[in-house]
Amino acid sequence: MKSSVKLVILAAALGIAWAGPGTSYAQDALAVITKRQDAMKEQGKSTAAIKAYTEDKADLAAARAAGAQLLASMPTIPSLFPQKTSMADYPGKSYAKPEIWAQWDKFNEGVKSATAAVQTFNALLAAGDKAAITAAFGKLGGEACGVCHTPFRERKT
Ligand code: HEC
Repeated sequence: MKSSVKLVILAAALGIAWAGPGTSYAQDALAVITKRQDAMKEQGKSTAAIKAYTEDKADLAAARAAGAQLLASMPTIPSLFPQKTSMADYPGKSYAKPEIWAQWDKFNEGVKSATAAVQTFNALLAAGDKAAITAAFGKLGGEACGVCHTPFRERKT
């Protein structure tokens, strides 16, 4: 059996889409860009759910669930930004600035401080003092999202 045929069979057995050498790269990149934008949208929804609680439009349990979602998703961020998926590589698709990869340590620092901010906020959610939660929510967007968006994300226009 030719080795390339064996590889296709192996890939099929492992459930990997095999498009042949060289052809799948762009598809993979577009898929990961969509995946991370979806993950970011989830973070947006969670933030909105917490805001709804501060505005008496949702209960504390919903806010706590949203806080847990934010905390769980933060550590997955770096894996959603493989090389060559910047807005320079995929204009009109990706809004990730090339600075992410040029300053990878700084990007990871952003993930860390965003995670820490969400952890602190979740402690407040657990305690359940609405006035304290509402006051802290005012800063959460900057500390957990803006810390990374300001240097590393281009706004969609
Ligand atoms: C460590 C960096 C980082 C953190 C932390 C971060 N983001 Fe993002 N976010 C990005 C980048 C980079 C993009 C652009 C991604 C792209 O277009 O490929 C983005 C895009 C988005 C988008 C647009 C998604 C779309 O539809 O294209 C939303 C909404 C968003 N983020 C919400 C949030 C919220 C809410 C938080 C905080 C709770 C957050 N993000 C925290 C880096 C981050």
